[in-house]
Amino acid sequence: MDAPMHPLIDGFRRTAQAELDPPFWEYVSRGCGYGVSVGAAESSWASYRLLPRALRDVSRIDTRLELFGDFATPVGVAPTAFHRLAHDEGEVATAAGAARAGSPFVLSSRSTTRIEHVAAAAAGPWWFQVYVTLDRAVTEAMVRRAVAAGATALALTVDTPYVGHRNIPGSGRPMDLSDDLALVNMAEHLSAAQRDDPWAFIDQDPSIGLDTIGWLRQISGLPVIVKGVLRPDDARAFVDAGAAAVWVSSHGGRQLDRAISPAHALPGIVAAVGGSVPVVVDGGVRTGFDVLTALGLGASAVFVGRPAVWALAADGAGGVEALLAELTEELRHVMGLAGVVDLADLRSAGLVDGG
Ligand SMILES: Cc1cc2nc3c(=O)[nH]c(=O)nc-3n(C[C@H](O)[C@H](O)[C@H](O)COP(=O)(O)O)c2cc1C
Repeated sequence: MDAPMHPLIDGFRRTAQAELDPPFWEYVSRGCGYGVSVGAAESSWASYRLLPRALRDVSRIDTRLELFGDFATPVGVAPTAFHRLAHDEGEVATAAGAARAGSPFVLSSRSTTRIEHVAAAAAGPWWFQVYVTLDRAVTEAMVRRAVAAGATALALTVDTPYVGHRNIPGSGRPMDLSDDLALVNMAEHLSAAQRDDPWAFIDQDPSIGLDTIGWLRQISGLPVIVKGVLRPDDARAFVDAGAAAVWVSSHGGRQLDRAISPAHALPGIVAAVGGSVPVVVDGGVRTGFDVLTALGLGASAVFVGRPAVWALAADGAGGVEALLAELTEELRHVMGLAGVVDLADLRSAGLVDGG
């Protein structure tokens, strides 16, 4: 059986495939390596079975979330790169759509719109995703701008010492990404000499270690969420090093192929951190049932990557808002059927068999 996908997301996906430049479509939608992890991430959520409660008053369902900001829903937008290749308004539209839905929005370091412009459109709390660049001064300058623009948390991505290769043939044509677009937030922090070969300075630094968490906390004063965690022992070490939250993710199956699915890594990590910090998750979330399962396994919030890019490509800010509203509505419905009324209730109800 194909992994379940909400019909609205499937519609956005088809429209995006028809409308996007094929190399960008391939870039967004494919996984790395031989594509094992990307498919498994989607199907793993449906491998769990639920244990619904009955005779509870479920006439009022509340999906509100407090997590480095107040949100109407625990369904958020994961950081993804290069939104102006999906839609003219780029990250400004994504942020506006997420704000209208009351969702957490995480702006990628690889945004194709200036941080300050996205912040002005966000109209709600947002977080900034960080790659630590080979020239650390570039990261530091961008973090300081994100803080000044109002970010309420940082998400430090730790699963990308190198960008995962894709061995599945695509369209064969490179993506139409000019340096002007790719460097929109970075060029000003590079010297004239560095600009001759920018990627030698702005690619991810593969040598970073645990001290990066404290460094980011110190330069920003913001809570640092560590994104890309798949092992309980890593999660514990990151919390000990000062992480304010742990983000379980396999980068959408785009980094180490055959990495465990986030759906299966989540319970061990929730147990390992033992409630000391919140745990959030992404990877293959395509229905309100997936969201319910993730929250039932102990996640505080759940993020979508590709569906938001497809929705943006298909219908701009309105598409992103509709996607998040629809997943939240399906979540609300299945919370009622499962006998839980709010997120704390959901997390503590023992709703997921084997979770
Ligand atoms: C096109 C694309 C670009 C991405 N860019 C980033 C990025 O810049 N920073 C980051 O931390 N994660 C990035 N990710 C990973 C997402 O944040 C997220 O972990 C993943 O997409 C979740 O899986 P899903 O696409 O199945 O929902 C990217 C993912 C995609 C699909």
